[in-house]
Amino acid sequence: MKRRDFLAASTSAAVCTSMTSAPRLKAQTQTGRVVRERPSWTSENIFLQGINAPVFQEVDLGELQVTGEIPPELNGIYIRNGPNPMFQPSTYAYPLEGDGMLHAVYFEEGKARYRNRWILTQGLLYEMQANRALPELRFHNYANTNIISHAGKLLALYETGLPYEISPDLETVGEWNFYDGVNQSMTAHPKFDPRTGELHFYRYSFFTEPYLVYYVANAAGKIIRTTPIDLPQPALIHDMAMSENYAIFCHCPLVFEMQQAMQTGMPFVWKPEQGARIGLIDRHNSENKPVWIEIEAFWIWHFMNAFEQDGKISVDCAYYPEMKLESTIEGMTRNQSHFRRIVIDPNTKSISQQPLDDRSVDFPTVAQSQISQPYQFGYMPHIDLSVIAEKGIPNYFPELIQYDVLKQTSQVHRFRSGCYGGEAVIVPAGAPSAPDHYVMTWVFDQTKQTSDLLILNGSDFSAAPVAQIHLPVRVPMGLHGSWVET
Ligand SMILES: [Fe+2]
Repeated sequence: MKRRDFLAASTSAAVCTSMTSAPRLKAQTQTGRVVRERPSWTSENIFLQGINAPVFQEVDLGELQVTGEIPPELNGIYIRNGPNPMFQPSTYAYPLEGDGMLHAVYFEEGKARYRNRWILTQGLLYEMQANRALPELRFHNYANTNIISHAGKLLALYETGLPYEISPDLETVGEWNFYDGVNQSMTAHPKFDPRTGELHFYRYSFFTEPYLVYYVANAAGKIIRTTPIDLPQPALIHDMAMSENYAIFCHCPLVFEMQQAMQTGMPFVWKPEQGARIGLIDRHNSENKPVWIEIEAFWIWHFMNAFEQDGKISVDCAYYPEMKLESTIEGMTRNQSHFRRIVIDPNTKSISQQPLDDRSVDFPTVAQSQISQPYQFGYMPHIDLSVIAEKGIPNYFPELIQYDVLKQTSQVHRFRSGCYGGEAVIVPAGAPSAPDHYVMTWVFDQTKQTSDLLILNGSDFSAAPVAQIHLPVRVPMGLHGSWVET
């Protein structure tokens, strides 16, 4: 979208849901400005096309148009991160590459404004100086995977680099190492303990031992535990789970192979014959050695949650029986996931498993207040592989699923035809007459080429959105984000 078009388009933003009744259109004045505009480019890479294509403007938009009503008690920021390369790359390995871009909607007393910004990492600054992509900087710390709030700081995360601190206005402050407590890197999926305010996380290394290190930062951001963990070989570990007493790691057989990386650019090989192991790390006694339990090969990108009941640990996740990383749609759609519960008995070191659904899903989210605790609701976009196969481009998710793991039921919020969502974030409601919680997700309208932020009712999930916040610009498919109360 050209600079002159995006303000004009503000009066015709899309309505991207399955709602059928006529909504109340809230008349608001739209103001906005382009802060930075870079030359646009296109790519043959399917991860840079369609819903995945980067945007080339940083904008500030005030008083966004809203269909419905933003609950006035929602005061905070929804921020989401994702790869958005500024310069055309000669090769592109999603999601390991791509400059991080943050998209934030600021809520205040029933009104919303929007801002997006690239994260000015050291690598991107070098490329901006050169005014082109620098191949020698491939796989630098793009800070493109997640953004969290901890100890009063917003941290943009990338799992093979240190966090980048970001200001509430989305300006890049610089790398953050927890008061010199962490070196090398930090996972993009730390776990927040809602009872202590601690942040539990890890870093892995492909090259130097220890291949895995478990960290705990207290609520003030100081590292209070550093525990090296022996692994027989390096492993890609994208996420961890946490229950009341255990940090939980899955050592799955997606193996780093330097030789293959040099030959093909793809550094990971699926070796199911090696099996998998689940590691239980005692959260409260660092003297206790990790307990590892062997299990048949599987793959996990993301955990929904983990909790303990009757002496057993339930680990809920988006479970893949196999994970062959391929760059074609045919190859990608062979990696079919489903929602599964893995139940671990730490006393007998035994495991039982129960599929909770057969639909292909990922990007699970649970309320931050329920991490490591028994919970009721979790959310995942449905990865409808037929839609992705039809489009020939990944990341088109036509509906969002609400799982009630207590009742073992689910509800679907299907977006309007031609509209596609992503990861959800759960927002506490708070007002006496409010639903249990709200759910937010970005939705892209491929016809209008614009995006809406939906606010859904967690107590009536299939119903029309509580509010649809219309943007005159597109928010590309991204990765992970957070709700930050203000
Ligand atoms: Fe992730």
